[in-house]
Amino acid sequence: MSGFKDVSHLFRFAGLFVIAFLVFLVVRVYVVPKSFGEYGHYRAAAIGEIAAHPIKFAGHQACESCHSDIADTKAKGAHAHVNCEACHGALATHANDPSSMTPVKPDTLVLCARCHTASAAKPKGFPQVNPADHMGGVPCQTCHNPHSPAIGSDTGKGAAAGGTK
Ligand code: HEC
Ligand code: HEC
Ligand code: HEC
Ligand code: HEC
Repeated sequence: MSGFKDVSHLFRFAGLFVIAFLVFLVVRVYVVPKSFGEYGHYRAAAIGEIAAHPIKFAGHQACESCHSDIADTKAKGAHAHVNCEACHGALATHANDPSSMTPVKPDTLVLCARCHTASAAKPKGFPQVNPADHMGGVPCQTCHNPHSPAIGSDTGKGAAAGGTK
């Protein structure tokens, strides 16, 4: 019977699968990291590695302890709840040792536009402008104090410059 003779093909095929599976088991031992699966479906050693990354953000309390004048100004304005490092970037190095690094002043044409460029996706009540129409390339801090941005507020630059709101 020809059907019976052809069964040997199936055995060879199954044999190949068994060999492939054994190769897989051997390779697996070498490529799966040692601590994998200790706590779950991830590498347990990754926790220590991530925790060892140097801390980059100091947190706003750190900034406020030295720059209390700016913290006071900011607390009275619309940016009260925008943290220092949201604008100045991660500054743990500066906060730990101010003499080791002086922060560069942010470029307001980039920074302010990041949050205030008008977009239909933003809530209607959020203050937004089209930077090109609004001030035609003049840096924002010429008229707005970044730490208290309202024009004509008692802490803002507009008050001194006689700006109107
Ligand atoms: C331990 C005190 C201390 C802490 C904490 C600190 N600063 Fe400073 N900061 C200073 C001193 C002192 C200077 C002036 C240093 C200089 O001019 O080189 C300075 C300068 C700066 C400047 C530059 C001023 C300029 O005229 O260009 C910025 C911006 C600044 N700090 C922001 C921050 C922010 C944001 C934080 C929080 C992440 C912070 N600082 C935390 C003491 C501190
Ligand atoms: C909304 C963004 C924003 C926030 C929030 C902010 N800053 Fe600034 N800050 C700026 C910009 C922009 C300048 C540069 C202004 C310029 O070039 O005249 C600046 C300047 C400074 C300076 C230099 C001195 C000065 O008055 O120009 C210091 C110091 C400083 N910031 C510290 C702080 C600290 C501390 C906080 C948090 C309490 C903070 N900033 C929060 C945007 C911000
Ligand atoms: C990280 C986001 C962020 C950045 C960067 C930022 N702002 Fe703001 N700004 C805010 C928020 C949040 C408010 C408060 C909005 C509200 O009250 O609904 C605000 C409010 C304002 C207002 C309205 C003030 C008022 O009382 O009507 C002005 C003007 C303003 N910002 C100007 C600036 C300028 C100029 C810069 C750059 C120096 C800047 N902002 C950078 C988030 C930001
Ligand atoms: C030449 C001065 C000047 C410059 C430069 C300037 N502004 Fe203004 N800005 C004003 C005045 C004046 C107002 C108040 C207008 C009003 O209340 O209708 C204002 C209002 C705003 C408001 C509030 C809008 C609202 O709906 O409440 C935002 C946000 C703002 N500016 C962001 C910026 C940003 C971001 C920059 C830099 C890209 C900038 N401004 C540069 C003068 C200026």
